[in-house]
Amino acid sequence: MTKKIFSGVQPTGNLHLGNYLGAIKNFTKLQNDNKNNCIFCVVDLHSITVYQDPKLLKKNVRETAATFIACGIDPSKSIIFNQSSVPAHSEAAWILGCISRMGWLNRMTQFKEKAGKDKEKASIGLYVYPILMAADILLYDTTHVPVGNDQKQHLELCRDIAQKFNNDFDKKDFLKVPEPLIQENFSRIMSLKNGLNKMSKSDPSDASRINLTDTRDQIINKIKKAKTDNSFMPESIIELKNRPEINNLIEIYSSFTDEDLEKSLKNLSGKSFSDLKNLISEILVEEIEPIGKKINELLKDKDYLDNILLEGSVKANNIADKKVQEIKKIIGLT
Ligand code: TYM
Repeated sequence: MTKKIFSGVQPTGNLHLGNYLGAIKNFTKLQNDNKNNCIFCVVDLHSITVYQDPKLLKKNVRETAATFIACGIDPSKSIIFNQSSVPAHSEAAWILGCISRMGWLNRMTQFKEKAGKDKEKASIGLYVYPILMAADILLYDTTHVPVGNDQKQHLELCRDIAQKFNNDFDKKDFLKVPEPLIQENFSRIMSLKNGLNKMSKSDPSDASRINLTDTRDQIINKIKKAKTDNSFMPESIIELKNRPEINNLIEIYSSFTDEDLEKSLKNLSGKSFSDLKNLISEILVEEIEPIGKKINELLKDKDYLDNILLEGSVKANNIADKKVQEIKKIIGLT
């Protein structure tokens, strides 16, 4: 069966190991299975739900497109475009917002985390952001959405919105109900400094994450300084309990070696944390450093990147505009 794949990444700079292992690495795998049709979107409209410096936004959009390509996404096989260049996303988001229920949005844990204590001061955009995400997905009749575990709840909301639309307007299967594709080796890649926080672009400490543009020395230094604990290397999954930093390092290791946790623990048996860190550094330098070099190389040719995004937006517009016109017809607007 041909899978229709759609996913998005915010252009907020500093794409990191969590974005790579949680999502982008999987994008490339899915694309390289030639049976799939893949669309990868730089979701600039999502990024402005919190203030973005206008001078940096365009640069960050290019950098995200460059990251996609550097990680192996091939613009001749997959569509790469930025969200704001396809107006159907905003139009569909409004319409789907009228289908969605406040109670559904009130349950979104990411809004609660991002808005923090003073949610009265959060933007309305941040609150309704999962509806825009649903529009992104549903406009392309997406069957599968590769994302990190932190987006799972948004995917469930997207499924609810699609089902309610189909029910309300008696249009069985018109909006396709998508499946999430979440890799299984770990739930989220966590900060190198605090294993209870997710690795994130917005963490003020650069040492908390491996950026995809980090140099060899930066990678080695950050892994060397990553937090561990005073106990020994765990021998079993039960011994990983309540040891979030160790759990994170072993999950990073096992997702690169493509082994399950149990196998990794067996291989690491008798080793020290500094052995583990050396192994992880070696793997990261081998896989991440060339990506960073490629990103910097690609960023030198702005016209090339702008052209890829333009060509992608023409293709995406063709699909999304048709779908939004059908949506408008179904609800009686045209
Ligand atoms: P964003 O930009 O925050 O993250 C992009 C992708 O990276 C994954 N990710 C992680 N995975 C594992 N560990 C981490 N520490 C980590 N940090 C980030 C995210 O799960 C995501 O897959 N709302 C989305 C973007 C979006 C989207 C869409 C995704 C907009 N429209 C439609 C899929 C389909 C977001 O903010 O991702």
